[in-house]
Amino acid sequence: SAPPRHYRIGFSQCTNGDAWRQAMLAGMTKELSFYPEVNFEIKDAKYSSALQEQQIKEFLKEGIDLLIVSANETEPVTPIVEEVYNRGIPVVILDRRTTSKLYTAYVGGNNEEVGQTAGNYAASLLGQKGEILEVLGAPGSSPAIDRHRGFVQALAAYPNLKLTAQVNSNWERPSVLERLPAVLRAHPTIDLIFAHNDRLALGAYQVCKQLGLDHRVKIVGVDGLPGAHGGIQLVQDGILKATLLYSTGGEEAIRVAMKILRKQPYDKENTLSTMVIDSTNVLTIKLQTEKLASQQQDIQRQQRLLQAQLATYTSQQTVLYILAAALLGA
Ligand code: FRU
Repeated sequence: SAPPRHYRIGFSQCTNGDAWRQAMLAGMTKELSFYPEVNFEIKDAKYSSALQEQQIKEFLKEGIDLLIVSANETEPVTPIVEEVYNRGIPVVILDRRTTSKLYTAYVGGNNEEVGQTAGNYAASLLGQKGEILEVLGAPGSSPAIDRHRGFVQALAAYPNLKLTAQVNSNWERPSVLERLPAVLRAHPTIDLIFAHNDRLALGAYQVCKQLGLDHRVKIVGVDGLPGAHGGIQLVQDGILKATLLYSTGGEEAIRVAMKILRKQPYDKENTLSTMVIDSTNVLTIKLQTEKLASQQQDIQRQQRLLQAQLATYTSQQTVLYILAAALLGA
């Protein structure tokens, strides 16, 4: 039979510097271990749309069979992604979108739904009345735009719930530590902060603590990563009231990419669902994610064992062949 075709997948990542992106890459690497014929390369745009454009151009020059891209900002990254698509190279958008319909498939959460869920959760937490502050992700990135839109939509149903203040961020905690204190001092009656990810939410908590507002202000984040510093732990520790699960989609992105490359049927929109993680379910979820992690380790151990056995088997066969050849030759 024909040997499997070799494919080259380029992954243009808006940033690779946080735990969520690391978890995404770990998911991809795990899934890629099932496809040894794939050559996978990641380029880290380090939050620069200009660098991302340049890196995608490099991918085009080097030659790729498929592009996976998380767009740093929608507008500036759109033309180059459209160019890749128009050259007939399949494009999988992962998590952060462009403004264009010209892509082969999308994998990721529905960020408008994330915002809506946060809004409705905030309403129930505050008994449908109070003042809210929103810490947004980086302006121009699709999750920040969509989370905000969904949040405002949901709040519109509660006339006594006011979105009193907003703080922009660059998705990272230091920007909150820098910008939030002045805004909170100006609005000390804030009841709840919705932060667009758990890193920002932790920053918001630290600022509230500094200002002596930590017992008053309820904080809701997004991501819900497992692990010692993840959002699940922050909820368990009572630092966050809740976090909205936002799956990285690493495994799914590779699976969809392989279907496209192998000309198998695939869905254009692959939406990963969200859920509220709060004190009512955090323990169950924590136990589940820990169990999943340990099962994952078991699978990897078994894979290694299998490979070792295969190697032994191959060398035993070689010995058999040599013996047989010697006997026949005799
Ligand atoms: C990680 C991250 C997440 C956030 C996502 C949005 O880089 O900032 O915290 O949910 O990107 O794209």
